[in-house]
Amino acid sequence: MIKTIVVAASENNVIGIDNNLPWHLPDDLKFFKKTTLGKPVLMGRKTFESLGRPLPNRLNIVLSRSKQALPEGVLQFSDYNEAILYLEGKHTEEVCIIGGGVVFANTLDLVDQLFITRVHTSLENGEVFFPVINPELWTSVWEEFHEKDEAHQYSFTFQQFKKVNS
Ligand SMILES: NC(=O)c1ccc[n+]([C@@H]2O[C@H](COP(=O)([O-])OP(=O)(O)OC[C@H]3O[C@@H](n4cnc5c(N)ncnc54)[C@H](OP(=O)(O)O)[C@@H]3O)[C@@H](O)[C@H]2O)c1
Repeated sequence: MIKTIVVAASENNVIGIDNNLPWHLPDDLKFFKKTTLGKPVLMGRKTFESLGRPLPNRLNIVLSRSKQALPEGVLQFSDYNEAILYLEGKHTEEVCIIGGGVVFANTLDLVDQLFITRVHTSLENGEVFFPVINPELWTSVWEEFHEKDEAHQYSFTFQQFKKVNS
């Protein structure tokens, strides 16, 4: 099973402020949707709370160590490996790990590919961060630049990395 992280991070790796995204970038949200649609999405409890509802047309899996009252169809696991074993048992082809900071920090070393939307700004008031990636472990396989415009307060670059030797 391919394990893919999907994240948007500033130049200084900020991913969250006030339990929310630090920006509104509609074309990145479209990219996120296209990348994750039809696949299970695995996230931490705080990210699920910040979304406010399950992402449609995807199996939503929430990691939490305490019992959560979750909408019908949303699965909870108290351990990352248990969630992965469950999905492997269902012969899942790919799982998307969608945050937030705690989950990314715990899973970066365990995944096969990264989709990073690198948002071209440096934010001083960041509260939640993506870990620094070791360039020796990751090969860039694709990237596409997106200009700043009326709908997008920052320019950004979609980047895809694969783990070296994976
Ligand atoms: N820019 C982006 O791409 C992006 C993506 C996603 C989220 N975000 C942002 O990130 C922020 C939230 O991130 P966060 O780091 O505060 O929280 P988080 O990673 O979303 O959730 C943390 C919680 O998840 C549970 N958890 C995490 N790892 C676990 C594990 N291995 N086993 C069991 N439970 C585990 C724990 O829940 P319990 O405390 O219930 O046990 C933990 O307190 C928000 O600001 C959000 O908007 C940004």
